[in-house]
Amino acid sequence: MADAQTNAAPTTRRGTFVSLEGIDGCGKSTQVALLADRLEAAGHEVVRLREPGGTAISEKIRKILLDPANGAMADECELLLYEASRAQLVREVIAPALARGAVVVCDRYLDSTYAYQAGGRGLDAALVTRCNELGSCGVVPDRTLVLDLCCEDALARATAGGADRLEQEGMRFQERVRAAYLRLAKAEPERVRVVDAVGTVEDVAARVDAALRGVVATPLGRGDAGAAHE
Ligand code: TYD
Repeated sequence: MADAQTNAAPTTRRGTFVSLEGIDGCGKSTQVALLADRLEAAGHEVVRLREPGGTAISEKIRKILLDPANGAMADECELLLYEASRAQLVREVIAPALARGAVVVCDRYLDSTYAYQAGGRGLDAALVTRCNELGSCGVVPDRTLVLDLCCEDALARATAGGADRLEQEGMRFQERVRAAYLRLAKAEPERVRVVDAVGTVEDVAARVDAALRGVVATPLGRGDAGAAHE
């Protein structure tokens, strides 16, 4: 992925990068927090992040993106703002963390852009993939978990406390996003794993750990490749 034609982040990658994905309301943020706690308990330095956000600049971009008053935002503007937020996060936080050997746990990353801006909005998938290469500076997760839940249940959860600009898009939008995630998992089966998000928080946490086996050691699922990227 990182080659002379992209703006690859210049880093020796000793850490591990895990991202969690899914439609709004799939329970992802709860699982990110629990996973980060377990990894810390297992002795890792853990850097917890959420996208969009995670740096002062990226948090400002997040406010613009999620503001319900910005209903007039063009799809291309939205795409580029997500990428802008991401590039800052990679340069400022993710690449340095991976270089020093930390485990980075990110609540959404470049697959969200594929799922929402290509799948949901209908922007050209090849174009979005190219933009993702720029926004990620070529830094791709070692493993990505898609927490999968039917759209009715997820949307009910997501909008219980009021809907943000993206959540106002409704059911059909979420269905396109979900389908795009499932396509990604088929296209990249080694990196992208689907985790059933139905059940108790503990059930899903156990599935999360199982899906990380071989990538990073957690208390529930012993991994064996904790520092494998030179
Ligand atoms: P957030 O409140 O963080 O939602 P969640 O808890 O579901 O992650 O809002 C992030 C919203 O931004 C969410 O609706 C997904 C959307 N999004 C994109 O459309 N493209 C992207 O690249 C990213 C990172 C997020």
